[in-house]
Amino acid sequence: MKSEGAIPAHIAIVMDGNGRWAVKRRRPRTFGHQAGLKALRKIIEHCGRLGVSELTVFAFSSENWNRPKTEINRLMDLFMRALDREIDELQANEVRLRFVGDLSAFVPELQESVERAERRTRANKRMTLNVAANYGGRWDIVNAARRIGERVAAGHLSPEQIDEALLASQLALAGGRDPDLLIRTGGEMRISNFLLWQSAYSELYFTPLLWPDFGPEALDEAIDAYRARERRFGRTSEQVRTKSA
Ligand code: IPE
Ligand code: IPE
Ligand code: MG
Repeated sequence: MKSEGAIPAHIAIVMDGNGRWAVKRRRPRTFGHQAGLKALRKIIEHCGRLGVSELTVFAFSSENWNRPKTEINRLMDLFMRALDREIDELQANEVRLRFVGDLSAFVPELQESVERAERRTRANKRMTLNVAANYGGRWDIVNAARRIGERVAAGHLSPEQIDEALLASQLALAGGRDPDLLIRTGGEMRISNFLLWQSAYSELYFTPLLWPDFGPEALDEAIDAYRARERRFGRTSEQVRTKSA
């Protein structure tokens, strides 16, 4: 495959397929989530090696609360232990860890662990890892709208001043760039309420590989596919090739 474009600076991933991976092995779904964490670890390392500057992963959606209570509890447990276990290594690799989503729904211990990890890694510059937990794209936009509404109501802002840049500045990933490449593993071809606003012009890549099976080679393949694409942002192919405005 021809690889000519730049490497994506920001990659977003819907890490789907843990449950099916486990069921195929006649193991409980939680076993799949454990394997999913191992896969994530390898992908973070690989992104670091490739020079990807931002990685955003969907770990738990606002709709995942609809799952059986036992699975949710095991997932929370896993998050908690993974955070404590991995934080030193993230710090050593100069990864900044950031959580996006409504964390107030999590148990206080997990919220504290998250805050500690964010504070500790805040100054790291090599790569930013955004973990979307209790995140929903609609929640994100509603939240931004509410904050803007408060400023309007307080008389600090007029409705005419509301534009795309202002709205984007109130979203969870504000300050970074929009994802260049959005990958979903597990074979489903849907967004499932991930980064609705931020993925407006992301290149989408779907693979049937289940998340625990998605390794560095699979990521290389996704990046190759991305690099072979032409991002036009509404312009014509001729314009893009001649780099005219
Ligand atoms: C994704 O894997 C992880 C979470 C949603 C937490 P799933 O648990 O959705 O796996 P499948 O889709 O059931 O195989
Ligand atoms: C999306 O996967 C959310 C995460 C990967 C965390 P789901 O498995 O929850 O998505 P649906 O329900 O199949 O759309
Ligand atoms: Mg799923």
